[in-house]
Amino acid sequence: MSKEGVVLTGIKPTGDLHIGNYLGAIKPSLEAAKNEKGYFFVADLHALNQENDPRKLSHYVQSVAAAWLASGLNPNKHVFYRQSDIQEIGELSVILSAVTPKGLMNKAHAYKAFKDRNALAEKDPDSGVNMGLYTYPILMAADILAVQATIVPVGRDQVQHVEIARDIASNFNRIYKGQYFKLPNYVLEPEVSAIPGVDGRKMSKSYNNAIPLFTTPDNWRKIIRKIVTDTQVAHPEDSTVFKIFQSVASHEESAKLLSELRSGQVRWGEAKDKLYEAIEKRFGKMSQNYFEWMDSPRKIIEIFEKGKAEVKPIAQKTLSSVKKASGVTF
Ligand code: TRP
Repeated sequence: MSKEGVVLTGIKPTGDLHIGNYLGAIKPSLEAAKNEKGYFFVADLHALNQENDPRKLSHYVQSVAAAWLASGLNPNKHVFYRQSDIQEIGELSVILSAVTPKGLMNKAHAYKAFKDRNALAEKDPDSGVNMGLYTYPILMAADILAVQATIVPVGRDQVQHVEIARDIASNFNRIYKGQYFKLPNYVLEPEVSAIPGVDGRKMSKSYNNAIPLFTTPDNWRKIIRKIVTDTQVAHPEDSTVFKIFQSVASHEESAKLLSELRSGQVRWGEAKDKLYEAIEKRFGKMSQNYFEWMDSPRKIIEIFEKGKAEVKPIAQKTLSSVKKASGVTF
């Protein structure tokens, strides 16, 4: 998937990652930038509207950085950084806020979902809504536009944010009559809603049914043992065990297991063992790498420093043209 362009994507450090996050976000993002320099970052400012415990936040910043690095992000090839290190992003966000129509924010899904929940609970429409949530899409536009990224790999839930970033960019270009920003495009990451969690529902942190991306072999075994299997015997292809297996194992391995389940040669207990082995084969080494990174915070900080030095001049260039356009500098 090598279209011409600058690839950028960020991950918000708000929790532990699961195998769906890797298969549906990290891996496809790295693939999108396989043949070029990509921009990858830890979106810590985006986490502030929902995480008020500084110790937890800094833990998750380290964890998301370790996840990117363990997943194969090469910081010498790509630009890898922490969002809050780039002050230009914050400054750009302020300028964009000043000229962005409020109505654009009103229609953002995350905000609308909050309002709908409040309406159901007969609360004030903005109850629990902070400005971080409300202006989330502007900060995300600043991330993208600061480095003039044109290709933004995202999951379905973030598509609207990239569309809003386009609107914000073209609104600015129109007001100040110039091509200050390139218009970004999203690239939809593969749908991983097909990967069920251990209870058969969509794998999600909020359902508490996820298979962690980074953990110990014992913990993987324990979690896999919890997968619900009864009532699924008639159609093994619809079973949770098989669907998860299919998302981590090769096509051939999946076809083999399916035929063994159909013929009754392999039963659920053994299928779970095979699933454990597939997960260990796919993520075991990566998980060890992750824990090594987690034990090396100094190294992560050095990598952030390097990324900062690379991104800042690019973001400064954008910012200075934006400042000139708007008249705050001359
Ligand atoms: N909003 C994204 C998420 O919650 C994270 C993010 C922040 C991002 N800034 C970005 C993704 C810029 C792509 C581009 O998953």
